[in-house]
Parts: sequence; C-alpha cells; structure tokens
Amino acid sequence: MSGTIIARIETKNQNLSKLLEKLMNSIEGFKVELSLADDNLDLLIYDIGADVDNDFGRIQFLMSRNKDAVVYLTSASADPALLMQAIRIGAKEFFPQPLNIDEVRGALKRINIITSRRQGEVLTVMGCKGGVGTTCVAVNLAVALKRLSPAASVALVDMNLVFGEIPLFLNFKPRYTWAEIAKHINRMDDVFLTDNLYEHATGICVLPSPTMFQGTDGATPQVFQRILSHMRRLFDFIVIDGGHAISDMGMKTLENSNSVFLVSLLSLPCLANTSKMLESFDSWGYPAPHNTHVIINRYIPNAEISIEDCEKSIHKKVLWKIPNDYALTMSAINQGLPLLDVNAKADVTKSFSTFARALLQIDPAPAEDQGMFFKKLPIVRTIFGGRS
Ligand SMILES: Nc1ncnc2c1ncn2[C@@H]1O[C@H](COP(=O)(O)OP(=O)(O)OP(=O)(O)O)[C@@H](O)[C@H]1O
Ligand SMILES: [Mg+2]
Repeated sequence: MSGTIIARIETKNQNLSKLLEKLMNSIEGFKVELSLADDNLDLLIYDIGADVDNDFGRIQFLMSRNKDAVVYLTSASADPALLMQAIRIGAKEFFPQPLNIDEVRGALKRINIITSRRQGEVLTVMGCKGGVGTTCVAVNLAVALKRLSPAASVALVDMNLVFGEIPLFLNFKPRYTWAEIAKHINRMDDVFLTDNLYEHATGICVLPSPTMFQGTDGATPQVFQRILSHMRRLFDFIVIDGGHAISDMGMKTLENSNSVFLVSLLSLPCLANTSKMLESFDSWGYPAPHNTHVIINRYIPNAEISIEDCEKSIHKKVLWKIPNDYALTMSAINQGLPLLDVNAKADVTKSFSTFARALLQIDPAPAEDQGMFFKKLPIVRTIFGGRS
C-alpha cells in the first residue's frame, strides 16, 4: 500500500476520535492525514448522535463534496431505521458502539482506494540563502522533468510569499496567484484549481505567488496544505520554489515534501547556512535526512573549497553539482526561457536533464559519480517505477 488517506473523523466525543485516530495510526502501511476541511476526503468516519436527521444532512453534504469518499458510520444507537438509512446513503460500514476494535481495524484495512488515487511527488527546492539560484533550479528542473517525460503532469509552485520571479523566468503574466486561491479556498475543487493555474508553453502548470504586496492574511499554512494536497491529486510532480526564508508556510511546505533539495554554493557563508538549516531540520524532525539533499550550484572544479571540504563541514554528502554558467543562465532569464530552449547542449543545461533523468529513473545510474545516491531516492515510483 502506498500513498496517504485523507480522513475526516466527526464524532460526538473526543475520546472516540482519539481512539479511531490511534487505531488508524497503528495499522502498518496506512498513512492517514486528518483533515479539517470539508472536501478532498478519501474517508469519512461519522458518529451519529441523537439528532439523526441533522447528522444525515451533514453526512450527505460531505458526501456531495467528496463523491469518491468511503463513508463509515458509527452510533451508540442500533435502531434498525438508522441502519436502513445508513445503507440507503451508501455507507460502506456501520460500527455499533462500543466499538469492536478488530472489526474497525479489518474495515480500515479493506480500504483499497489509495492505489487508484494519484499522489504526486512534492519536490521542494530551497536556497540556503538569497541569490544562490533557487528559482533557476526549480524552473529548469520542472521543465526538464516535463521534457523528458511528456506524459507526466508537472506543476511549478512559487512559495516566495511576495515578488516571486517565476513569471519573469518563463515570460508570462499571471492571471491568478495562490493568494487568490487562498482567498476563495472554500470553492476549492479540481476545476477551480486548474482554472487558477497558468499553463505554460512548456506544458508545465504554474501557480505563481502574489505580484504585489497585499498582505498574506488568507495564506495560512493550513490553507497551503489544502492547496498542496489537492495538487497532489492532479499532478505527478509538484516542484516548489521554496525561496530561502523559513516561515510558517515554508515549514508546512517542508513537512509536505517528498524530497527537499537544498541549494548551496561552495562559499563559507553558504556552507555555514546550509549546516544551520540541516541542524534545524534535525531539531524539527522533518524533512527526514534521507529526503533532504544538498545541491551545489555554480560549481567550478578546483575551486578553493572542494566538494570534500563542503561535505565535511555540512556532515552530508552532496547529491548533485550544477556547473557554473553565469552568461547562459542570465541570458535565459533575460529572454524568459528555460535553459533547454536557449542552449540544450550547454553543460549547465545537460546537468538539469541528467538530474531529471535520474529522478525519473530513466538512467538507473547516471554517468557521473553522483549517481549512487539516486538509488535511495523515494521519488521513483510515479512514472517509471510503476504506480499501479
Ligand atoms: N548554475 C549557475 N551558474 C551561474 N550563475 C547562475 C547559476 N544558477 C543561477 N545563476 C545566477 O544566479 C542569479 C540568481 O539566480 P536566481 O534568481 O535563480 O536565485 P534565487 O536564489 O532564486 O534568488 P532570490 O533569493 O532572489 O530568489 C541569476 O543571475 C542567475 O543567472
Ligand atoms: Mg528566487
């Protein structure tokens, strides 16, 4: 079993909620994300109380918002009329209270909805400080993934809270940004989300950040989590330009990422910041060390600080090196084009393609000495790893 079930538990008492939550978390291979939102659910567990009509009204409302969700009902009452009504609305299980834990566990294990749902990979690119090339890496990685795997759906999300630069890098004027989506989060469904994304000529869909500072009131970490979990249903890959500042939103992004690529340079300040960020991740408990990877951008062989020095100072292996090519990257930015459309043969461009090939596992072991780490990456299942 792979993926996450998004579940909503609505009960009349907290103890019952806690019991169900604990039970779900105890089932091996069953990853549950509890949702506060009324939509985007895989599973609804609802406790019917004394006001039966009101409760069924609520259940039907939730079912109308989540057409594919599996509904389990429970109640302290075993009134046959209630059971009939449960069957009529299409509930898959009814558990009398007190709960028979084995019975509930068995029903949860039978849920086979996960495999049929898309769970895109969230790849967050984050800079150890400003100006290290985070946007350049995010944009060119997203485009390279799409170019190498046209069947894959790829989204690019700008998490720089204000003045994100992706529209400049890809030369378009955004109609909407995620601030608009945040403002109308209650209207969120597949159509609303798709309508708000910009479909770029490269085939990637972009969710830009606000173009002017208008406050970030609606943009709470919870709202962003909702946007992200919806996006994971629609896209195989969601590449996030995470900027470099760690805010509440940034932490939520990291928490929801399958892989985090920390962009750094071979300079003392950058390596010091990289160490501090890795230490912070350790202290928060996420992103997990095996999902966090350091990328050295603007790499020049025989530089004053070597990769070995760097690895010693940050206590971590470097996953990837991107060659230094200021003229080409600057030219691409100024033309609003991805590197692949400016000079596909340049080393810096090829580096992005090789990186994307490794992520997609087109090459089981990329030609460079960097390949061995990719075997450990969890990113492989989506396109070529055989999601069933
Ligand atoms: N591999 C590279 N070789 C040479 N220059 C590069 C490389 N990657 C990025 N740059 C240059 O670094 C500069 C900053 O790039 P970019 O805007 O992507 O960085 P950033 O970390 O997103 O910056 P900010 O903190 O402002 O968002 C650009 O001028 C770009 O040309
Ligand atoms: Mg940037």
